[in-house]
Amino acid sequence: MPRLLLLCLLLPLSVLAASDRAGDEHSYAEPDKVVVRDLGLSLVLDFDQRVLRGHADLHLTWKDPEHRRLWLDTRDLVIEKVLGKRRDSGWYRLRWKLEPADPVLGSKLAIELRQPYETVRIRYRTSPSASGLQWLTPEMTRGGRLPFMFSQSQAIHARSWVPLQDTPSVRYTYSARVRTDPRVMVLMSADNPPNEPRDGDYVFRMSQPIPSYLMAIAAGDLVFGAISERSGVWAEPAMLDAALAEFADSERMIQAAEQLYGPYRWGRYDLLILPPSFPFGGMENPRLSFITPTVIVGDRSLVSLIAHELAHSWSGNLVTNASWKDIWLNEGFTNYVEGRISEALYGEEAARMEVVINETSLHQELEHIPPPLQALVLPRLTGMDPDEALTDVAYVKGHWFLRFLEQRFGRELFDPFLRSWFDRHAFQSVSSEDFIAYLERELLPRKPGAVRSKELAAWLQGPGIPRNAPRTHSERLDAASRQLKRWLAGRTPAAELDTAGWVTQQWLHFLDGLPARLEVEQMAELDAAFRWTGTPNGEIAMRWYPRAVRSGYFEARPAMAAFLTTVGRRKLILPIYEALAETPEGLAFAREVLAKARPGYHPLTTASVEAVLEKAAEGG
Ligand code: BES
Ligand code: ZN
Repeated sequence: MPRLLLLCLLLPLSVLAASDRAGDEHSYAEPDKVVVRDLGLSLVLDFDQRVLRGHADLHLTWKDPEHRRLWLDTRDLVIEKVLGKRRDSGWYRLRWKLEPADPVLGSKLAIELRQPYETVRIRYRTSPSASGLQWLTPEMTRGGRLPFMFSQSQAIHARSWVPLQDTPSVRYTYSARVRTDPRVMVLMSADNPPNEPRDGDYVFRMSQPIPSYLMAIAAGDLVFGAISERSGVWAEPAMLDAALAEFADSERMIQAAEQLYGPYRWGRYDLLILPPSFPFGGMENPRLSFITPTVIVGDRSLVSLIAHELAHSWSGNLVTNASWKDIWLNEGFTNYVEGRISEALYGEEAARMEVVINETSLHQELEHIPPPLQALVLPRLTGMDPDEALTDVAYVKGHWFLRFLEQRFGRELFDPFLRSWFDRHAFQSVSSEDFIAYLERELLPRKPGAVRSKELAAWLQGPGIPRNAPRTHSERLDAASRQLKRWLAGRTPAAELDTAGWVTQQWLHFLDGLPARLEVEQMAELDAAFRWTGTPNGEIAMRWYPRAVRSGYFEARPAMAAFLTTVGRRKLILPIYEALAETPEGLAFAREVLAKARPGYHPLTTASVEAVLEKAAEGG
């Protein structure tokens, strides 16, 4: 993604060179002085005004009892009143100040205290344009009957709907009471009893300490269907059956992960199917993963997404990156665990196909990532939005590094090592330095000489992929590559290629192997044979439409525009906008589409698309 390059050029060199990685540069909080240990929310969810309003009670632990201030993170919040309370005394009004907003971090809420209050209550309301919330009118939902809203807090958007210490280094429990339209169901990343009556007044409790980015809320016409005793699906009524069929393996996935990494510790594991504007594939909100409907394609071919979000129940939710520059500890570990779950359920070849497809995507992305951001252990990201710093490096290189360790030590040593990493750091936030120390203490001595420290440094601190990285081959993908070669060489027409019994991943690999630009006749030939224009499969769409744009294959335009106006998942649509932005004509078309799509897009999606188009307009 070229916009990364731009951001990196904006980073002062001193930042990249800084060796000090301690602390969280994306939060104003001072967790070495005071921490929130429990949060009590009381909110009204107002669809008409598109706001949440009410109060947040922060229960504090003072690490430095002499400290007399509380600095919190906020973004676009309206603060109405701040009160403090000590044990059984009454509430006292506190002095507070909202600092001017930083474009990345938002506004520091600085509260002054005369004594170390145990509870601070903040009365506030959100802004209708809160970066972490999307509000949908009934027409924008599947059922068209009731409005819908949902949060997306990762990485630093929780602060746009709750004033808090918005850093993954702080964990707290929470309770919430949420009142809204009685026809609407509300869910949170907490207990969601399947039989809760729909009455517009809901109470939640999350009794396990979580970081703020895992705070989540959603509301809409949501109904529940069970998959197993502890797992099920929440969706709009019209989506429920399709979702239950697609994700029927969720219980088996939980069991496979438990076999490897110990008991699932969060009680229930439910999936919430969001509207297609959800900006991500999935989000691992505890007890309730948020899932894009774009993976419900009818043949379970994209369910590795569920394995991924479930895997976060160990890597991420249980053991959490302490700041966003260590996100490979969340996403790389999760991709690895996801692969192990896929292997257990669907076999080695299925897992290998995912690996090869991911590696292809990493290699493409690496060309646009500045070298300092190609390391797993990132420098301080001061001034940079953590969402923009997140690349395939964390996911794919992180996963690759763990496979490298697995290969050198063997699963008989590596599996118990990883399990113990999760067990020994359960409900803690950890840094890369913590992992490296644990590796040096618990794994390296078990097989001296298995890895050299230079090799570790190349993976952890170096750019790119080390030359001796383990190689993965997939027979099915190789077969797809062979057919592609025949076609590209003009030896076999598309319609006569041997594609019988191909799985989705083979099609994706075939598409990945196509040149970025083809002759219009070639595009038409492929389309006639495989009917990619108008595909319901977003993974195919994100590979096909950019090629249609670059090849001048205008027949795809109407279907592509329809895709861009219904789907808001960033990964699927940004490559298309990027291709469009390469020519003045395409840019004009992209602007038209965006104008139509904007009311349905999530604020994060709109911001990303605008960034692509603006950069192109500037000639960048
Ligand atoms: N936690 C991430 C999504 C995320 C990361 C949101 C960083 C905001 C900031 C989630 O688990 C994820 O990785 N989703 C992927 C799917 C996955 C199969 C790679 C996605 O949304 O594409
Ligand atoms: Zn993830």
